[in-house]
Amino acid sequence: MTLKRKIIWSLASVCVFLCLYVCYVGRPVGVDTDTEVEGLNSELEQILYYAGLAPNSHNAQMWEVKVYPAEGKLVISPDTSRLLYVVDQESRETYISMGAYARSCMLAFEAYGYNSSIHVSEHGQSITVIYANSGMARDEGLLTLMRRRHTDKREYTKAGIPEFFQDGLRGIKGAVFRPEMADDFGVIKDQTLAAAAEQRDNQEIRDELAEWLRFSNGEAEEKKDGLTAEQNGITGLGKAIYYTFGSRWFARSDTFAQTGYEMAQRQAENCAGFLIITASDTNVGCIEAGMHLTEAWLYAVRNDIEVQPMSYALEDKARRFAVQNALKLTNTPQMILRIGFVDGAYGANALVRRDLKDYIEVE
Ligand SMILES: Cc1cc2nc3c(=O)[nH]c(=O)nc-3n(C[C@H](O)[C@H](O)[C@H](O)COP(=O)(O)O)c2cc1C
Repeated sequence: MTLKRKIIWSLASVCVFLCLYVCYVGRPVGVDTDTEVEGLNSELEQILYYAGLAPNSHNAQMWEVKVYPAEGKLVISPDTSRLLYVVDQESRETYISMGAYARSCMLAFEAYGYNSSIHVSEHGQSITVIYANSGMARDEGLLTLMRRRHTDKREYTKAGIPEFFQDGLRGIKGAVFRPEMADDFGVIKDQTLAAAAEQRDNQEIRDELAEWLRFSNGEAEEKKDGLTAEQNGITGLGKAIYYTFGSRWFARSDTFAQTGYEMAQRQAENCAGFLIITASDTNVGCIEAGMHLTEAWLYAVRNDIEVQPMSYALEDKARRFAVQNALKLTNTPQMILRIGFVDGAYGANALVRRDLKDYIEVE
């Protein structure tokens, strides 16, 4: 073999190896959530699987559930070992996530033909869901909607949010929309970015976030929680590079924090508007916000509108009230959602969720 042929063969082999490597490392994550729970029938297991697809901060899935099948009731409470003690010192996002879980639970019951009602304890420490089979037919459309809901951090197009969607939001309690051309859109954006810059410079917040970032499909498939590359909007070749060079150590660095800040800057500047969910600034208010968040998000999914929460500004009490005052809102903003359309296919949920038996107990 001539030297020239040898070089061509070597280069071709390297290219093939690189392609295989990128395909393997960049392949979509495939978490296999075990839905089996001793003492529950398969229908209840499925219902609780759908409930667990609720949005939640850092994908920490900070809920614990006790099911009393004989009484047709379940009780949701926070799992104190999974709270975000640095970024969420007031546990505000824990209560929002619990509210989102409770609402998803009720919707999953509804989709399986059950009636359900809810009772929130005085200080929001627990949420009780009472359920009974009403014999109604299964609503596959609702289940598809719940599986389809996801956080989308990609670039959004310039297309505006249709009037009919904005009108429909009036039916969702606490929902307020500010299109990109509204006068006070800039206030939300500026508060978001100022808070993002503060978080970029806060080592403790960076360290906490690093614990919830996943740096390989294997890690995500084992832990079944946290934020994977795709949940951070990184797929294909980008994902292969992120997983090859990324590490928890690197995630704590200035460079990583600055890259995250610049990404937040592009996201805030690049959306059709902000959808805000307001509620009173109490634990119970946050649970209600989580319930309304679920409603608004599924309504967006139904209309192929992408959603990404941007919570930076609301994680600080002073900024929360600054946004409330600037927007003249009667209630406190508890969620800021960046919404819009993407070029190309509607996104999908990475379905990174824990095994049910890890957080569900049957009494
Ligand atoms: C209270 C709360 C705060 C959140 N804050 C952010 C945020 O600031 N930025 C972001 O990209 N996603 C945020 N999310 C979205 C979660 O990261 C996401 O719901 C979780 O990782 C599960 O992913 P999924 O929504 O695709 O199922 C938040 C969700 C909740 C409920």
